[in-house]
Amino acid sequence: MTRRETLQLLAAATAATTANSTAYAAGGEADREARMKWWHEARFGMFIHWGLYSLIGRHEWVMENEAIPVAEYEQYAKRFKPKPNAARDWAKLAKAAGQKYMVMTTKHHEGFCHFDSKLTDYCATKQGPGRDLVKEYVEAARAEGLRVGFYYSLMDWHHPDGARCATDEAARQRFVAYIHGQIRELLTNYGKIDILWYDVSWPLNAKGWESEKMNAMVFDLQPGIIVNNRNGLPGDFNTPEQKIEASKGAWESCMTMNDSWGYQKTDDDWKTPKTVVKNLITCSRDTGNYLLNIGPKADGSIPEESVKIMTQVGKWMEKNGKSIYDTEVCQPRRSNYASFTRKGNTLYMHIWFWPGETAILGGFLTKVQSATLLASGKPVKFEQDRFRVRFTGLPERAPDDPVTTIAIVCEGEPKQDMDFVRKERPRG
Ligand code: GLC
Repeated sequence: MTRRETLQLLAAATAATTANSTAYAAGGEADREARMKWWHEARFGMFIHWGLYSLIGRHEWVMENEAIPVAEYEQYAKRFKPKPNAARDWAKLAKAAGQKYMVMTTKHHEGFCHFDSKLTDYCATKQGPGRDLVKEYVEAARAEGLRVGFYYSLMDWHHPDGARCATDEAARQRFVAYIHGQIRELLTNYGKIDILWYDVSWPLNAKGWESEKMNAMVFDLQPGIIVNNRNGLPGDFNTPEQKIEASKGAWESCMTMNDSWGYQKTDDDWKTPKTVVKNLITCSRDTGNYLLNIGPKADGSIPEESVKIMTQVGKWMEKNGKSIYDTEVCQPRRSNYASFTRKGNTLYMHIWFWPGETAILGGFLTKVQSATLLASGKPVKFEQDRFRVRFTGLPERAPDDPVTTIAIVCEGEPKQDMDFVRKERPRG
């Protein structure tokens, strides 16, 4: 495509956007709730960081942190030759792990695009892969019935205007046209897309990125989509990173399985399946989502350790998923060996340090009607007085791995009051 054609394409895109720029604003809260419904129910998604950095194997920030010159880094684009349809294995693993959606880096900070872009040659179709990796990913996710998310980095270490746009208005206009144009391509060429996950807005602010216009275009192209908060606007959900932090509004905690997003050959700091399950429970307890990352190797294969961890998590989710999906705000929180989630009048007590034959829930004020081990459906005996519920006759060893869940059906919404215990518990 010539430069003139490119400019024409961008002008057409801008005109179309302006015409529909009220679409998002007009939707309001009711519209947002409808768009977000599936996502709130889903709770668990897969993040995929994959790029030229996967060839190097020293983290996705290697280009910047090792100050690799652009011309040198570009060479990797020719050497990048992943196996066909690697994304099918990611999608199968996500499904097996109980994840309901995927978010793949379509372009990370390095600037290399996994999709077919008319706006650059630095993309999968015109470099080593010789094919559209985003298309493969989208098809793979859909084949497993998973929702499709696109991660897209606004910051770009490769584009000539990627830094100077901060101080040079002509450069800013060119760069913003490029970024908006690519987002348009992504949301035009792959059918229905469920999530747009912006990242790193350096070096511009929302005004500089023309983020209002950006989001208006996004909602015009994909009315059902949800967007995150990383283009300088609040978006539909917050994105706490490497930590679990409930906030007002919707939130999704994104986290690595070891310490790197992109493939890092020697990073062996893996989370245990127990930690992953605990984190997932914590997110679900506070009605947030958990976006857990894999960093495939350059050929697209998933590091063995990630497969092991996810498979274990999946086995747990198969039997305990009911206590994670579509949960509601949960008041009981206090225990030394358990955490809680809630759906309606059912409280799920997730025990990660098994106490033996008796498990106790202190300060529990709601009348318990029945209790069962969620994984096996076996009934659990219990005794309740004003101050506590004692679940008795449990096996000596934890029946489920890595966390055992007791489903506790209550007469009303489960409530715990530890103040009551402190003040009123008989003192001899
Ligand atoms: C950070 C990092 C980036 C990663 C992202 C995921 O912004 O720059 O490498 O993609 O977090 O949330």
